[in-house]
Amino acid sequence: MSQIRRIAINTGGGDAPGLNAVIRAVVLSAARRGWESYGIRDGFDGILFKRNYPSGGIIHLTRERVRGITHLGGTMLGTSNRGNPLNEVVTMPDGTLQERDRSVEILDALHAHGIDTLIAIGGDGSLSIARALASKGGLRVIGVPKTIDNDLDKTVVSFGFETAFSFATECLDRLHSTAESHHRVMVVEVMGRYAGWIAVNCGISGSADVILIPEIPFDLDKVVSKLRDREAQGRSSSIVVVAEGATPKGGRRSVLEAVQGRSERLGGIGEKVARQLSVMTGKETRVVVLGHLLRGGTPTAEDRLLALRFGAAAVRAIEEGQDGVMVALDPPMVRYVPLEEATRRMKTVPLDCDTLLTGRDLGICFGD
Ligand code: F6P
Repeated sequence: MSQIRRIAINTGGGDAPGLNAVIRAVVLSAARRGWESYGIRDGFDGILFKRNYPSGGIIHLTRERVRGITHLGGTMLGTSNRGNPLNEVVTMPDGTLQERDRSVEILDALHAHGIDTLIAIGGDGSLSIARALASKGGLRVIGVPKTIDNDLDKTVVSFGFETAFSFATECLDRLHSTAESHHRVMVVEVMGRYAGWIAVNCGISGSADVILIPEIPFDLDKVVSKLRDREAQGRSSSIVVVAEGATPKGGRRSVLEAVQGRSERLGGIGEKVARQLSVMTGKETRVVVLGHLLRGGTPTAEDRLLALRFGAAAVRAIEEGQDGVMVALDPPMVRYVPLEEATRRMKTVPLDCDTLLTGRDLGICFGD
């Protein structure tokens, strides 16, 4: 194993509660081994757009700098979910679009700082970028999985997910009383682009009556019949949880905006479902979009601990000579999985998983 001198850390993609805890664990674990840590600001923007960072796009992360951040949401380094530095789309003066690979700039900047290893904390997209960077040579990469959507394969869970679904559950608890008082249908839209984990977990824990997820195309007639059954039993209010990526049978995902060089922005499915349910049932409906509230706030104790475990394990991985791997939870252990395997497929909700079956046994309608 070559001599380790300096580690760089970056956080990419949407933020998740627990990112700061990972950063602190990396910095302290590295310091114990006599290694220095540096943080790249806003994904790789601190390198690629360094003129925007007068105080430095790569910052030295000392013990003092990471003191007292374990419980804080967000990321002290900033993040970015725009574009891919290996495939940046630029508009030329004549209006045409061209792609360029800026990996050499990133590698050169890291080497100029004496950095030989990158700990990339991110979701599917950011980890794929890290893997591609590593394949150019001259940089070791260790990935740390981050997603509130829980859609990263090869780790049982990643930090941020529990915080997100616990908060969503608390919101459902609060919505029951107002729904009952007004005899309304409350439609609650939660994040979950391709995977319905947040919707399923909060919907079941928070006693929703209907849960619509991307994995199960929904039929609103089934939802209406569930609401009518409830009415017949004297239950005049209902809670419907909808993941942002849920689609009607034979229909499309609800896209708010398609932007060049990044994933399309989803949203609006809650509003559509509420409007149609109101027409179909004649009942008053209201929509609550939890959206980015699910990404903010203090990580739960469980997420904090997991984030700290991941950060420390990433540093141990470097010490053990690992390269091109992601740390992954395989209780009771944190193991290393090749980045290539970890980013190959998305972890969606299996239709036969016991959580979903539990929901069905409780009488929850999944729109099918
Ligand atoms: O973190 C993943 C995610 O929460 C998705 O569920 C959602 O579609 C996306 O982030 C929204 O990200 P942003 O609004 O920050 O682009």
